[in-house]
Amino acid sequence: MITVIGAGRVGSAAAFEILRYKLSDVVLIDTNLNQAKGEALDMMQASPALEFDGTIEGTNDFSQMQDSELVIVTAGVARKPGMSRIDLMNTNAKIIRSISKNIVKYASDSKLMIVTNPVDIMTYLCYSETNFAPNHIFGMGNILDTMRFRSHIASELNVSREDTRALVIGEHGDFMVPLVEYASVSGIPLTNLLTTSQIEKIIQKTINSGSNVIKLKGNTAFAPASAIALMANAIITGRNRVMSVSTCLKGQYGQSNLSIGVPVVLGKTGIEKIIEIKLSDNSQEKFNASVTAIKTAIAALKNN
Ligand code: 2OP
Repeated sequence: MITVIGAGRVGSAAAFEILRYKLSDVVLIDTNLNQAKGEALDMMQASPALEFDGTIEGTNDFSQMQDSELVIVTAGVARKPGMSRIDLMNTNAKIIRSISKNIVKYASDSKLMIVTNPVDIMTYLCYSETNFAPNHIFGMGNILDTMRFRSHIASELNVSREDTRALVIGEHGDFMVPLVEYASVSGIPLTNLLTTSQIEKIIQKTINSGSNVIKLKGNTAFAPASAIALMANAIITGRNRVMSVSTCLKGQYGQSNLSIGVPVVLGKTGIEKIIEIKLSDNSQEKFNASVTAIKTAIAALKNN
């Protein structure tokens, strides 16, 4: 069973994507009972079209997450136009602290995916609060940035998105690091296909992708929900996908005491393996800046 905590736009869209993948029964938890029950009822009514024969329950009772294989935490305040994800930190930290207590009480053997922003800091906070094994807790951020990076590459080159491959690491935020040296189209290095200024423009578009959607419609939903479902699919089916995930490092990349996006193998036990890759000097410098941004925010949270 998969539990989604937070029946807002992202949580509900993610629950629906999970049904479409036919991954498992779903419990949708929200403190607003009618919101959770209404979203679940709406999705149940869609299930014949999805050929989904499982169940989706809406509740405000956290004990219903008992025995979940995967708990996905989307609860929290979302950004408003002009805000950075870091601006949400103190408000959402209170929500994550409270949810962490329930997770320890009812789902201490589950894998834990954090979506609530700022996701790297919230992942590390939840890790500290729950004392979960580091491979059982991770944040959804850079896989979404990678999807956006790939879509911008495909648009610029007018090629199928399916043939693009890329990796974004670091903070899921303004300090994210789209890795140009690992981007390709059907194995052809991106630097063989685009000029430096074209690539720079794509990097900026990738960094601003979330804000651009928020400016237009006030929130993102379908893109984060699709990214959540990709990760959930890798875990529930044990597909051992390689993707960039916010991970609590224990010396990898020379870093500890933070969660940050790095390439991992994602499978049945959660993070099966952290993959350490060589970074160009430019990417290393940006990654270091990302580490500093996240550690500064974690320190500020501790003092709050
Ligand atoms: C986004 O970038 C919600 O952080 C998420 O859309």
